[in-house]
Amino acid sequence: MKTELISKDNLNLAVEFLAKGQLVAFPTETVYGLGADATNVDAVKKVYKAKGRPSDNPLISHVSSPDMVWKYADEKYKKIAEKLMDKFWPGPLTIILPIKPNSLSSNVTGGLTTAAFRMPDNKSTLEVISKLNKPLVGPSANTSGKPSPTLPEHVLHDLNDKIAGVINDGPSKIGVESTVIDLSVKTPTILRPGFITYEQLNNVLRDVISDQHKVSDTEVPKAPGMKYKHYAPNAQVIIIDNPDDFKTAYEEKAKFGEVGILATDEILSKFEIDKKFKFSLGKNIQTSLKELFAGLRYFDNMEAVKFILAQGYSGNGVATAYMNRLNKSAGQIHYKKGE
Ligand code: TXA
Ligand code: MG
Repeated sequence: MKTELISKDNLNLAVEFLAKGQLVAFPTETVYGLGADATNVDAVKKVYKAKGRPSDNPLISHVSSPDMVWKYADEKYKKIAEKLMDKFWPGPLTIILPIKPNSLSSNVTGGLTTAAFRMPDNKSTLEVISKLNKPLVGPSANTSGKPSPTLPEHVLHDLNDKIAGVINDGPSKIGVESTVIDLSVKTPTILRPGFITYEQLNNVLRDVISDQHKVSDTEVPKAPGMKYKHYAPNAQVIIIDNPDDFKTAYEEKAKFGEVGILATDEILSKFEIDKKFKFSLGKNIQTSLKELFAGLRYFDNMEAVKFILAQGYSGNGVATAYMNRLNKSAGQIHYKKGE
């Protein structure tokens, strides 16, 4: 199947493909999603197949309005959910709610009695969902295990000829996936950190549990997707927590193979190496969040690169989301001198 690059003035084509049960990748403010009609069991099956995704990993249903959620979700937690929807939707927050029995198929929910909902902040995608008048499932539109796509080119790199189309809306504004909050439990719990921070959620709800995403290897994470290997390029990613260590780390690793550096302009400017081995994270944590996946993909396409030295960030707020993704892609490896 030839994958169409669909322009924003041709959205009816995307709606047509989706209505026929085909897959269309769609832009959001976080990353590109792989869309299928959430109420069409066969279409949802194709999503798992195209991505090579483990079948017990449930999908987010993307809606074009809060009203669309209540066709499927139990209204028991409506009041508290609406507080979050009012404040953060459309936007990078996914809300887990108990659902009405059998309202969504088990290949959307992974067989759970809850489901994930999100209203993305992207005009084209909201228009497509509302024209289709059905929620769209949307895992990130990458091959399972690889960094999430923040450009239509990334989607085509992984899924060309496997899906009907991708809507072209340029680079994603935020660059990492949404914050996932579980409202189906006694105390609202963050299952995946993202651009909407613990501090922001706690301001609205009070007593939010922040750290469910920090599970050890022997525990079962509540968001099934958090247990899989993720965002992993072929090269070894090494996190540099102290910017002063970049130079020594580079000298140590360069003995064994080509080294790519993923850092802010200030750090890159101190390296006099071929510029193809540098990828800029811009100037601060926000631009770093936006460029992280693109940078990992950039070096992944360079066969010769054996190590990627990536800048770490300390602190709360969106740094939590950045470090969560970077730690996964590095398999938790942080640079220590002489190791
Ligand atoms: O920003 C995003 O959220 C992007 C864009 C495309 O919207 N989507 C995305 O989807 O990241 P995905 O499938 O890569 O991640 C969804 C996460 C997974 O970790 C999954 O296990 C979790 O949400 N999840 C989905 N349903 C759940 C449920 N009922 N209970 C717990 N976790 C759930
Ligand atoms: Mg994903």
